[in-house]
Amino acid sequence: MLIAHITDFHIVPEPALCYGHSDTRAGLRRAVAALMAIRPRPDLVVASGDLVDEPSPEAYATLRGLLAPLDIPLVLIPGNHDDRALLAATFPEHTYLPPGGDLANFALDFDAVRLIGFDAVVAGKEYADPAPAALDWLAATLAAQPGRPTMMVMHHPPLRTGLAFMDAIQPPWPSRFTEILEANRQVKLIACGHVHRAIEGVLGGARVSSGGSTGHQFAFATDLDQAPQLSDEPAIIRLHLWHEGAVTSFTTPVGRDFTVRPFAGIDAAAWRQISAALRAGQRRPAGAVAEAEGDA
Ligand SMILES: [Fe+2]
Repeated sequence: MLIAHITDFHIVPEPALCYGHSDTRAGLRRAVAALMAIRPRPDLVVASGDLVDEPSPEAYATLRGLLAPLDIPLVLIPGNHDDRALLAATFPEHTYLPPGGDLANFALDFDAVRLIGFDAVVAGKEYADPAPAALDWLAATLAAQPGRPTMMVMHHPPLRTGLAFMDAIQPPWPSRFTEILEANRQVKLIACGHVHRAIEGVLGGARVSSGGSTGHQFAFATDLDQAPQLSDEPAIIRLHLWHEGAVTSFTTPVGRDFTVRPFAGIDAAAWRQISAALRAGQRRPAGAVAEAEGDA
């Protein structure tokens, strides 16, 4: 199962630009087009919050319109810029989102992986702080299926990121959250956003993987004396490939021109022969990559 992860769209209604300069609608359009061009097609797209920049019915209607061309199943969770009730009202077919503004905590079972949305956002605040009841829910939900490979989706990365100004506004994560992850090693991956950069970490048995924003990035900065800066580094799509209980992840840029060409003179016809030999168990079929171009 291939799960694509995008995040932090920060959509604003026409004709405004986010923060006066960031065309976040164009960013999401590019991301949607890139998602639909990926082969093999992702089986699922997850979006980890800050779907709009300032919640309003107009902003969410704009978001819905921008996502309409995406013909891949989609899972949404709110971030600190979102309004849970407006989000759920805008996407009523997303029945895993509770109406009325309750926390968006849910579990969705797929064949290859169990997907858990965990909502630690504190309404009206920039930081995350999971409520004791939410931690109870998480512990019980994970304990119910300890043998199933599990992916969590959250808005905030649940660890110290090293991005100093982000860490400075985030209270320490409750030790109980860490204990729950330590006790549930079936959680292999936590996909998140918020930091507008690609960051990797480890918590319990899980790799924590944040995506960059589809709109604008925070410039790399580990020193709190360094003022936060926005950067137009390319947006990325994370691709999480689940196979036999394990996950490997790929990252591909969005919206920048790049060339894809045959490798080492191997065209489609030659590759049909080589791949047939590889499927038959040959490790170095005649005419294969290593022969043609030397070991890569
Ligand atoms: Fe964000």
